[in-house]
Amino acid sequence: MPTLDRSKLTALLQGEEQLFHQTHPKSYELYQRARKSLHGGVPMLWMIRWAGSFPVFVKEAKGAHFSDVDGNSYIDLCLGDTGAMTGHSPEATVKAINEQIQRGITLMLPYEDVIWVGEELQRRFRLPYWQFALTATDANRFVLRMARMITERPKVLVFNYCYHGSVDESFIVLDEEGTPMSRPNNMGPQVDPQLTTKVIEFNDVAALETVLSARDVAAVLAEPVMTNIGIIHPEPGYHEALRELTRKYGTYLVIDETHTICTGPGGYTAAYGLQPDFLTVGKPLAGGVPAAVYGFTEQVAQAFTERLDVDDADVGGIGGTLAGNALSIAAMKATLEHVLTDEFYRRAIALQECFTQGVESVIREFDLPWIVKRLGNRSEYWFRPVPPKNGGEAFAAIDHELDRYMHLFALNRGILMTPFHNMALISPETTQEDVDYHTGIFREAVISLFGNR
Ligand SMILES: Cc1ncc(COP(=O)(O)O)c(C=O)c1O
Repeated sequence: MPTLDRSKLTALLQGEEQLFHQTHPKSYELYQRARKSLHGGVPMLWMIRWAGSFPVFVKEAKGAHFSDVDGNSYIDLCLGDTGAMTGHSPEATVKAINEQIQRGITLMLPYEDVIWVGEELQRRFRLPYWQFALTATDANRFVLRMARMITERPKVLVFNYCYHGSVDESFIVLDEEGTPMSRPNNMGPQVDPQLTTKVIEFNDVAALETVLSARDVAAVLAEPVMTNIGIIHPEPGYHEALRELTRKYGTYLVIDETHTICTGPGGYTAAYGLQPDFLTVGKPLAGGVPAAVYGFTEQVAQAFTERLDVDDADVGGIGGTLAGNALSIAAMKATLEHVLTDEFYRRAIALQECFTQGVESVIREFDLPWIVKRLGNRSEYWFRPVPPKNGGEAFAAIDHELDRYMHLFALNRGILMTPFHNMALISPETTQEDVDYHTGIFREAVISLFGNR
């Protein structure tokens, strides 16, 4: 099994950075200009967290590809970190947007189309009642408020190294001794998350029972498969235990499908028959136009309504002026009806299987201590020999320098992976050639690190 020469990696990374500078002069120039008006030179701080030392400025994007201001073109396997899992500007969504935009964008009143969307969400996710938001973060925040209001319990439970958007409660991790602490470098928490949140490792049933048995947890906020510290699958029986224990101790189960919607048309929930009390999802639902939804059971709806005196209640904590706006709804209807279809998932998952087989073939050829993990049409490579079973193990396995090198090597050769880990998504317009090209580039990166076999 070959070992990684760290000094060679550092030198190779420097070489890739130089190449990036040489091939992206206009992006560099625009970045310098942007820094004079935009904090950090970008409209949103995540955009400086890419592998290169400045962001690529995009010229245009369509389907599975985009080009930059320097004339470079790319296969986009990041797809807006799931926001564009539909492919960029899918035709049906664009048509619906064009039509709706002529007929009013936002009124704080419903159009008839929203009922179709509600019914479709019922069909896909098997929950009877739905509400709309603009981001998955908001959907999660609103659901936590509802759960606290109904249960009259103060705490939320999350899993170590989860991510559910900028939801304050979720910025908590376990330290090396297993003690909860505010996430390192957590930016200006409103309150110490230890006051609001309990945190345990995913896949740890004993810890789950211990924390829930105090009966002070309003809701468990969970991705059904962890994705944000890399893909971590539930162990056999884990979801059954999660459901049973949350019911036993009167805690609501919130399943966040924002990334795991990559599993199938009804997310992991429909594919594996989960029975959450609440379900949240956002990102690709409207083809990249801001839109998110949250659904809940009949029991939740009734319990919430009983406590809600609409004339008296301060509903300002849930919802938002632009939530459920006509443009988002039109985009969502078209995307659900014509883009995120059963047929799309069948094709994209089959292509993702080819993607992972390609990566696996290289790992085998070079006898690397690496693995590739897949969930539906999403996959990512890991620089460790066995899959981590929880967030703590996954965090310990991160190799920032190697991640950055693999990412930049691909970017310099026309492939965009997700910035935070080497994740690849398949869109409706990703082709077999795109996948084969990636396999070839991944192999070249491996050769650069370990030499030819
Ligand atoms: C599982 C999960 N939930 C919620 C969110 C928040 O989405 P948004 O940033 O669109 O609010 C994210 C973002 O990455 C996510 O991964």
